[in-house]
Amino acid sequence: MSTSSPAPQAVTTRLLSLRNVNKSFGAVAALTDINLDVAAGEVVAIVGDNGAGKSTLVKVLSGVHLPDSGTITFESNPVSIPDPTAALHLGIATVFQDLALCDNLNVIDNLFLGRELRPGRLNEAAMETRSWELLRQLSAKIPSVRIPVASLSGGQRQTVAIARSLLGNPKVIILDEPTAALGVAQTAEVLNLVERLRERGLGVIMISHNMADVRAVADRVVVLRLGRNNGDFVVGEVSPEEIIAAITGATDNAVTRRTAQIDLRSASADKGVTRS
Ligand SMILES: Nc1ncnc2c1ncn2[C@@H]1O[C@H](COP(=O)(O)OP(=O)(O)OP(=O)(O)O)[C@@H](O)[C@H]1O
Ligand SMILES: [Mg+2]
Repeated sequence: MSTSSPAPQAVTTRLLSLRNVNKSFGAVAALTDINLDVAAGEVVAIVGDNGAGKSTLVKVLSGVHLPDSGTITFESNPVSIPDPTAALHLGIATVFQDLALCDNLNVIDNLFLGRELRPGRLNEAAMETRSWELLRQLSAKIPSVRIPVASLSGGQRQTVAIARSLLGNPKVIILDEPTAALGVAQTAEVLNLVERLRERGLGVIMISHNMADVRAVADRVVVLRLGRNNGDFVVGEVSPEEIIAAITGATDNAVTRRTAQIDLRSASADKGVTRS
């Protein structure tokens, strides 16, 4: 076999890489020397305590904040992401936690808001067909695309928000706490959806506080602590205790492990998680 052609790194298609990314707000160092890699068809969970820098990282990637220093590489090219439009043009879509849906509009209108099919005016029939196509690809359970999103469940609303972000054909999709406000069945629905995104070859970045969700759906888990990287694990090769120890900064031993579990439980309680 010839070795003459320079072999690109063919095994995994690395879509997005951050190296030594820094971001401060005045005296607060929100991100310090952050490294992150996301490949096509990979789900990377980002976890960390409150104030760890997760949202700041999402905002750097979605063009809300410019980093102070460091490099961002997208599909092997160094890029800068000065504003949200630049992120979308690159192929980085973000579903923010508030979803930014218009409650009084129906599913189709929410999906196409601001990007109605051209030319000329809205082509209602084409938009409806495209809406169903998209939702079917995502195996989404939406009863009708003509009902206001206000009448949908939390999981269905999350689905609409994700479907909406897919219309721009992104390569990387960032989900900020996609299951935070959801019950068990709806969470399962959204995690299914994340698997569909991976099957489509997207790189998925999922911010989460929920260890069960992370372990159910992520390939890798990246831990941030006090604005720094504090662990990058392959899910399946790491115990929940190890992840929690990385989140809390605890040295891994039986005593701190127990403390960490208690911490996590109280953190979940703070987040309004229903306890039985
Ligand atoms: N716009 C801002 N101005 C000043 N400080 C900020 C700003 N945004 C974030 N910070 C600070 O940066 C640090 C990281 O915050 P960030 O919101 O990224 O954390 P997080 O991991 O998303 O936390 P949470 O889990 O509570 O959402 C915190 O100390 C926060 O107070
Ligand atoms: Mg946050």
